[in-house]
Amino acid sequence: MLPLANEEKRINTHWLPVEIGLVNVLWKMATQQETSSQSTENLIEALHVDRKRRSLITNHIYLDDEKLPEDERTAVLREIFNRNIREKQLSRIISHLTPVLDGDHPPSALVYGPTGSGKTVTLMHVLSSFQQVAGKHGVAFRYAYIDLSSPKTYFGALNELAIALDGSNRRYRKGIPIEYMQARIVEALDGVQGFMCLLIDEADNIKPNVDSFLTFLGKTLPRKVSCRLILVLLTNRLDWEKALDPRILSFFKKTDIIFEPYDAMDLLEILKIRVEKALNKDKVEEAAIKKVAACASRETGDARKAVELLAKAVIVAEESTGRLTEAEVDLAEERLEMDKTEALIRALATQQRLALEACYLSVGQNNRRSATGQVYEVYRRVSMQEGVSPLTQRRFSDMISFLDLYGLVTARAISKGRYGYTREITGCLPRELVKRALSHAR
Ligand SMILES: Nc1ncnc2c1ncn2[C@@H]1O[C@H](COP(=O)(O)OP(=O)(O)OP(=O)(O)O)[C@@H](O)[C@H]1O
Ligand SMILES: [Mg+2]
Repeated sequence: MLPLANEEKRINTHWLPVEIGLVNVLWKMATQQETSSQSTENLIEALHVDRKRRSLITNHIYLDDEKLPEDERTAVLREIFNRNIREKQLSRIISHLTPVLDGDHPPSALVYGPTGSGKTVTLMHVLSSFQQVAGKHGVAFRYAYIDLSSPKTYFGALNELAIALDGSNRRYRKGIPIEYMQARIVEALDGVQGFMCLLIDEADNIKPNVDSFLTFLGKTLPRKVSCRLILVLLTNRLDWEKALDPRILSFFKKTDIIFEPYDAMDLLEILKIRVEKALNKDKVEEAAIKKVAACASRETGDARKAVELLAKAVIVAEESTGRLTEAEVDLAEERLEMDKTEALIRALATQQRLALEACYLSVGQNNRRSATGQVYEVYRRVSMQEGVSPLTQRRFSDMISFLDLYGLVTARAISKGRYGYTREITGCLPRELVKRALSHAR
């Protein structure tokens, strides 16, 4: 639920009196000094001391591992990856791979799971450990990570595969023939002996011809290289295989592995490790961590969201009391909700933006109810002012349904008896937020 206008006031002003009061005191202290440059220096020192007093973070890299460069991220995750809560999935993957240790060739694997369920981190962890164990058994086993998290064409996917295999850090130029890219991949695998595992992350992101990519990987490539290929494809979409050509599924002979979303207890375990590594434990209440875990598991069980909420709550705590309690988590949750709404408004298309603007202009400061017809008139005026040709009232009405669906306005159908139905529109977001987001969206 999006907070209402008066709630927002509470959010933003919760810590402000403390902050402003403190700055005033510090400023007065500083201005009592003789020269102005000295007083500014004192103010800087005083604010620095105060910031340190309220600081919670001892090592921030453990709170935002997703923003680190790839090799640093891998090192951080090695320290904070909680393998205990993914034991079931780890065992499934390992039993799938163990034939390799006896020189047998396992089939490909398709790993499904919702976002933030730890597919990528778990697979990276398993494969790097497996590589070491295989080495001890005298079996040559290597793996390459191919990241397709942004949508790729067939060419783009080959490009990622080629750079993952040949170690070059520059992408190949667009316009190079597909055959050339394929030859580069074959060449890169030429000297490799033993087993080569290709971990293809977000495999469903290849559009439009994913079938060609998979045919190349599953059929063409194994015939041209001497090493034995094992494909591990990761995806969020459980129905992905339905979109594939049945012939591909037949030659893949794949095994399915499912990653269930984390529950609150799992998330709590993940968060505890972070708190230990990243924060001053004495300033963190256990109830706050439990609350973060509960909030994240209530939504989707996404570990990424849980860590994000924890990081946001820490910022709130540092800005206000210097302690992380349930109150800070509540505030952080509300702020995250605000950020999401703002991002959504900024991403609106021109007509949607104009419709939203018209809604909020029409309902005014007092959030009066406005009928669709009234809002449409305002929308026409705003569109003219911006030099955009307005949509018809019918299409405008669809636009209102869209805005309602995304929780940007509330549109309630009202019966007018024999005159049929009309919709009453009210705003459901703080005006300041809408104003700010709309001005950025222009
Ligand atoms: N078992 C775990 N221990 C510690 N942190 C974890 C664990 N699982 C997930 N995380 C955290 O959640 C983040 C997201 O995990 P990951 O990238 O593996 O999710 P995913 O299932 O691959 O999601 P997506 O489908 O969006 O790629 C990780 O960067 C890590 O911070
Ligand atoms: Mg992933």
